[in-house]
Amino acid sequence: MFNPLKPYNTLPYLPPKYDFDQVPILKAVNAANKALSRLNALASKLPDSSILISPLLVRESLASSKIENINTTMQEVFQMELLPEKKRTGAAKEVLHYRDAMLHGLALVRRKGFLATNDFVAIQKIMEPNKTGIRHMNVTIQNMNTKEVLYTPPEGEKLLRDLLENVEKYINLPDDGVDPLIKMAVFHYQFESIHPFLDGNGRVGRILMILYLVMSGLLDLPVLFLSGYVGKQKSEYYRLLQETRLTGDYSEIVTYFLRGVQVQAEEGVGRVEKIEKLMEASEKVIEQSMKVRSHRLTKCIFSKPLLTIDYVQEYLALSSRQTASKYLAELEKLHLLEMKQLGLNKIFYSKPFIRLLS
Ligand SMILES: Nc1ncnc2c1ncn2[C@@H]1O[C@H](COP(=O)(O)OP(=O)(O)O)[C@@H](O)[C@H]1O
Ligand SMILES: [Mg+2]
Repeated sequence: MFNPLKPYNTLPYLPPKYDFDQVPILKAVNAANKALSRLNALASKLPDSSILISPLLVRESLASSKIENINTTMQEVFQMELLPEKKRTGAAKEVLHYRDAMLHGLALVRRKGFLATNDFVAIQKIMEPNKTGIRHMNVTIQNMNTKEVLYTPPEGEKLLRDLLENVEKYINLPDDGVDPLIKMAVFHYQFESIHPFLDGNGRVGRILMILYLVMSGLLDLPVLFLSGYVGKQKSEYYRLLQETRLTGDYSEIVTYFLRGVQVQAEEGVGRVEKIEKLMEASEKVIEQSMKVRSHRLTKCIFSKPLLTIDYVQEYLALSSRQTASKYLAELEKLHLLEMKQLGLNKIFYSKPFIRLLS
């Protein structure tokens, strides 16, 4: 019998003995895949889509961190980003760590095409540099209000590593006939049940879902804002992680995530379309009013939410700082950017762009 107070060392290995060939699941799989492939096609059509990754990831990082009660704002994170790592503090610093962990994972996926236990560990280390590695101690998952122990994950490093290796095999085995979106939900549940780290399990688990979509070829860029959905449906998320263990019925948690993918992909499509339009409109204004290569300057001002003179100089490889400063002043006059004094620095930003990112 399952006892929430005892380490669950008999957590079953993947794949689950469960038949996913059920009409409602397959319908949800179709709808989610359709929405996701639209988002993917659109995102890769952005003029230089890779430039948007970083700001878009901040949004995901904020939402995923917020689920763990790490609360800050987009504005704070972008401002913190202007400081060198050593001077960064607080929740905004943690959100930037989250983003960096995701970017690192993305680079690994692109380089190797797969993710192994060491990569999970590396991702956690970037995100939570103070409590790194597979845990040696037991942890419990408690109800936040009543402190009732809901679940005690497995104990012992050897067992945790075996379970992770099993997850690794599961996600790197492409031809088992199960749709990757179903597998994404299944391994997320499994990863959270293993709970391999002292801290950061929820966040690493959510990073892995997005990376898995990239690995499976469903996304080229990590533009799906899945944590936005989980954050909104948080108690349902916790409930399903718990109930799946007790009932062995995967249909609910799988359907939950399929729905999440669909809703967030549809929302993402709308957002990317708006960013695209904003960039096009800005480029037109620049072309008509400034003597510069409008395309490059447009790319530059939408590559980061908050711009400094030094950044623009470097991005455009300008020999003089004054030229960068002049461009920014002109953009401000054209109402494409606004300026704010931050300490000794002038910060320039596009209000509608920030709105679309947050
Ligand atoms: N009953 C449960 N069973 C398994 N995992 C759970 C359960 N309840 C919550 N979780 C997972 O544990 C995560 C919190 O673990 P934690 O290590 O503190 O991660 P983080 O530091 O990212 O918050 C939640 O986000 C969720 O993914
Ligand atoms: Mg935590």
